[in-house]
Amino acid sequence: MSSVLELQDVCVRYPQRGGLFSRTVSYLEAVSNVSLTLDKSEILAIVGESGCGKSTLAQALVGLQPIASGNYLLEGTPVLLQSKNAWKMVREQVQMVFQDPYSSLNPRHKIIDILSFPLRYRKTPEVNAEKKILEVLEAVGLPKNSLEKYPHEFSGGQRQRLGIARALMTSPKVLVCDEVTSALDVSVQAQVLKLLDTLRREFQLSIIFISHDMQVVQTLANRVMVMYLGKSLEEGGVNDVLQNPLHPYTQGLIQSVPTLNFGCPPKILSGEASKPSGAGCVFVSRCSKACSECFEIEPSLNGSQRKVRCLLRNEK
Ligand SMILES: Nc1ncnc2c1ncn2[C@@H]1O[C@H](COP(=O)(O)OP(=O)(O)OP(=O)(O)O)[C@@H](O)[C@H]1O
Ligand SMILES: [Mg+2]
Repeated sequence: MSSVLELQDVCVRYPQRGGLFSRTVSYLEAVSNVSLTLDKSEILAIVGESGCGKSTLAQALVGLQPIASGNYLLEGTPVLLQSKNAWKMVREQVQMVFQDPYSSLNPRHKIIDILSFPLRYRKTPEVNAEKKILEVLEAVGLPKNSLEKYPHEFSGGQRQRLGIARALMTSPKVLVCDEVTSALDVSVQAQVLKLLDTLRREFQLSIIFISHDMQVVQTLANRVMVMYLGKSLEEGGVNDVLQNPLHPYTQGLIQSVPTLNFGCPPKILSGEASKPSGAGCVFVSRCSKACSECFEIEPSLNGSQRKVRCLLRNEK
């Protein structure tokens, strides 16, 4: 059976402008040859330091950033990347939930308008639209009387539920959640995570879950992909990767997670992510285990269930 969503060697580039007429002088490759598969009812977490390309990848998945090269398959069917109609179909099937529940809902619109907009766009008959809105509102655990209210009348957690409700209006197969719990306090975070897991089971939703929080990732996700400078460096089952990280970058990332154990302070991953000038591994300038080959040869992502992009692992 084919995956719900598949990316093959996808690149996303931002034009860098300069000069007198602000012309494109170069491109920044924010996502570099990323491949991933997402199965039905599966939660794939994407982790990595700030600026590694997580949000760019999320935006490319829902058509908010153009894909420069590579293939995008939805239920085994390739999406024609240049076709507006193809993207219209993708946007119904793959919906995004944004990080900030405060700015992602229009403050001037009542909840009923916010939720009915995607249905009006699809020209859904009014009776069916009302049924769908009530069904979704119940699924995210909000009362019926929410419909006549404005976003400012809700708490942060409730607004995030509304963001999820809006994403569910088109009955998508995939939700792309970009840091959806990072603006919420811990107890509300737990409620939103529980809701996502319930929705995954009830609607057989597949979820791409972007987060900085390793504990949240371990609680919720089935698989995890570790990104660094636009590339995937490690991928595998969530417990395998988090309990036995193979790539020196993943090891550093996990060791830098703060804990409540004051006797054991986190080890900060030193240095800053910057593209190496040579042809070697992207992580070479910060890697304590790097050998001379790592500066010269770019490793490929090897493995099937458990993938690692590291020369030191490839040799074993
Ligand atoms: N609109 C844009 N124009 C040009 N460059 C951009 C744009 N958005 C992001 N970038 C660059 O692309 C790279 C990836 O950024 P992105 O926002 O995808 O990272 P991220 O992993 O989501 O970071 P964070 O964890 O801080 O949200 C960064 O180098 C960033 O500076
Ligand atoms: Mg981001």
